[in-house]
Amino acid sequence: MIQNSNAREQWGSKIGFVLAASGSAIGLGNIWKFPYIAGENGGAAFIFVYLICIAIIGLPVVVGEVLLGRTTQRNPVGAFRALSKSKIWASVGGMGVIAGFVILSFYAVVAGWSTGYIIESIRGSFFNFDETLTSEVYFNSLTSNVYWNVGFMMLFMALTMGIVYAGVQKGIERGSKIMMPILIVILLILMIRGMTLSGAEEGLAFLFNPEWDKLTGQSVLVALGHAFFTLSLGMGAMMTYGSYMSSKDNILSSSVWIVFLDTLIALIAGIAIFTSVFATGQNPAAGPGLIFQTLPVVFTKVPGGFIFSILFFLLLTIAALTSAISLLEVVISYFVDEKKWKRHRAVLVMGFFAFLIGVPSALSFNILADVKLFGLTFFDTADFVASNILLPLGGLLISIFVAWVWGFDKVLVELKKGAEKVFDESPFIINAWKMFIKYFAPVLISIVFLHSIGVLGLILDLFN
Ligand code: TRP
Repeated sequence: MIQNSNAREQWGSKIGFVLAASGSAIGLGNIWKFPYIAGENGGAAFIFVYLICIAIIGLPVVVGEVLLGRTTQRNPVGAFRALSKSKIWASVGGMGVIAGFVILSFYAVVAGWSTGYIIESIRGSFFNFDETLTSEVYFNSLTSNVYWNVGFMMLFMALTMGIVYAGVQKGIERGSKIMMPILIVILLILMIRGMTLSGAEEGLAFLFNPEWDKLTGQSVLVALGHAFFTLSLGMGAMMTYGSYMSSKDNILSSSVWIVFLDTLIALIAGIAIFTSVFATGQNPAAGPGLIFQTLPVVFTKVPGGFIFSILFFLLLTIAALTSAISLLEVVISYFVDEKKWKRHRAVLVMGFFAFLIGVPSALSFNILADVKLFGLTFFDTADFVASNILLPLGGLLISIFVAWVWGFDKVLVELKKGAEKVFDESPFIINAWKMFIKYFAPVLISIVFLHSIGVLGLILDLFN
């Protein structure tokens, strides 16, 4: 196919889009965060609530975001500009571009640890200790090393930039087509390893037997917040990937695939991790340190642990990489579409900028550990601002825009493209989507948002 050099790129195939978007969704959120928040919030009971959030809020909003992108064939700022004259909506897109930088800045730090841990596992470093304490000390000694922390963050950013530099089809799509199958195979190997250890049943029981009393109002909010993060919602990542889609493809079925794969991978990761954590008698509720502190101890105790430790951190790094490229791509698409920059220049300049913004987060574990904004380190601030403010607010405004501002008749015309069969044969699916995006999503996201910025707490205090 001959293309005008200024033509906007598109995915080569439907599966290319599904893999790239699943790659964005499946990341540290699934493998690092989901298992430990499930562990902290009562296992199965939490998972149950989480699945409901994914189905009634996550999936409908994925459809909405992808639709905005595909319709306008633009980055988040351009997408709102194309559909509304009001500057306010364009600034919602602008907030997404900023969120891209903010999320990358802390995401790349954890991803850098994961990259560094590949090296540590190859060096066999985990076999020098067998108690959590030593593993913790080891983790702290690595993260308190400025060169290690910033160096691996830089290496990870460079990998991310390299893929985005190569373009939508040759970089992101090709990279996803190679990395996603590897990710799935490694995860299956780890799951089988975990399930065949003696004592694995306890881990499965932990994940699948609900302890309802551990579930609090707070856990419901955590579940909904995580549904957003894990599906890459609220900042235009799905919108940007949707903007490279052609109107021949079915958004509904693609979105179901993305959400299904993301959920499946989180559950398999949970199984792989908790079966081995329980089989080796480790603490399942270790929190954020579960992966970097508890698992290395698990590997020293599990037969074949050396190989499995390398595979695990390779898996985690691949998952983080396919997510980070989507974060950077939001920023790049903005500079390419709106500022008419060449992709290569945008990647080099903005990738370097993203790295610079990430440095204070990387230093939050060593020389800047005592520098606090509102009581939080740079790393925690970036995480808090993105996950508790920018993403829920962005998600809320995006769903309001699709459901109430764009004009629902136009929305349906666009959604129908590529999905004619669903409209003809299963109109109830369309009606359900309409109800979820119009009422459920805005109301429930507002509750989470108000809660996470503490307003709800203040209002409740007034009544007590
Ligand atoms: N979804 C990814 C994860 O679970 C993180 C991520 C990538 C993300 N792109 C995003 C989160 C955009 C919010 C918005 O790790």
